[in-house]
Amino acid sequence: MNILVTGGAGYIGSHTVLELASRNHRVVVLDNLSKGHRGAVRGIELVHGDTSDTRLLKEIFKKYNIEAVVHFAASSLVGESVRQPAGYYHNNVVKGLALLDAMVDSGVRRLVFSSTAAVYGEPVETPISEAHPAAPTNPYGATKLALEGAMRWYDQAYGLRFASLRYFNAAGADPAEEIGEDHDPETHLIPLVLKSAAGLTPYLEVFGTDYPTPDGTCVRDYIHVNDLAAAHALALDALAAGLPSSVYNLGNGNGYSVLEVIRTAEEVVGKPINIKYGTRRPGDPAVLVAGSGKIMKELGWQPRFADLKTIIETAWRWHSSHPAGFDK
Ligand code: UFG
Repeated sequence: MNILVTGGAGYIGSHTVLELASRNHRVVVLDNLSKGHRGAVRGIELVHGDTSDTRLLKEIFKKYNIEAVVHFAASSLVGESVRQPAGYYHNNVVKGLALLDAMVDSGVRRLVFSSTAAVYGEPVETPISEAHPAAPTNPYGATKLALEGAMRWYDQAYGLRFASLRYFNAAGADPAEEIGEDHDPETHLIPLVLKSAAGLTPYLEVFGTDYPTPDGTCVRDYIHVNDLAAAHALALDALAAGLPSSVYNLGNGNGYSVLEVIRTAEEVVGKPINIKYGTRRPGDPAVLVAGSGKIMKELGWQPRFADLKTIIETAWRWHSSHPAGFDK
């Protein structure tokens, strides 16, 4: 299949690009490199540009005979989205609509969309299934949900079929490739724990110890980035086979607390990690755990790296060999 991957030079995007290339798809990446890294897509066709550039999109669709799009390009930090909702609506909704319009105009009618657990907001039940009410508590989740809504109507009116993948906590790095997580600034727990272990930061701050969880710290469902990548490939195959549009959760169904992540990371790195106990980070739900039964049943998805220790080991291999990320 000829596939355009927007935001393919980012963390989850680049892992998906390699997965698709390994399955003999022809992949073209469109990335404005505002967050992504050229080094994350070595050997892959990279177009430096933006999804708001309709003319460029149409050129790419035609030149590479694109049959499907995987759309990652977006802003994706919860805290930042609360401070700068305008940027999030612009990047995630306005530019997302430009992509949908260009697809419809060019007759490209299959889309795999990078969505998020943040569409659910504060969970009313756990594990969270796709039927859980979607009530985002921040602009990031709201903008992802808004584009999902547009996709539904575009499907009905224009036949644009989609699979929307709602990720829980992406983590880890490809064990076989020279790519991994490299955000600036880094806000995610596992890379921050490992940066602290590597002595790059003095300590890891635990955000809140008074949650209604067994040890008082937040519980999350960590999913290996390669397992996410494989899900995108399965979703593309399903759309090619004519399956209807759908949304799927992606997690392992196991919740780990912040302290459990830190203890597991200590086992992986073989030394204690300095921590400081801090206050809650605004907007963090106590527990987020996925029910991923739907994608397992409908698309045959199975996680290969479900174990937290294995996930952290792959992340540690990347961070310890690339302390400065792709700039090394
Ligand atoms: N945490 C700390 N210290 C840190 C960083 C994080 O204690 O320095 C805690 C957070 O409070 C949270 C957990 O570690 O309890 C995980 O935090 P991350 O920032 O790694 O991930 P989030 O759970 O906040 O974010 C994830 C996805 C988002 C999604 C969000 C939904 O990365 O895309 O869940 O709430 F929007």
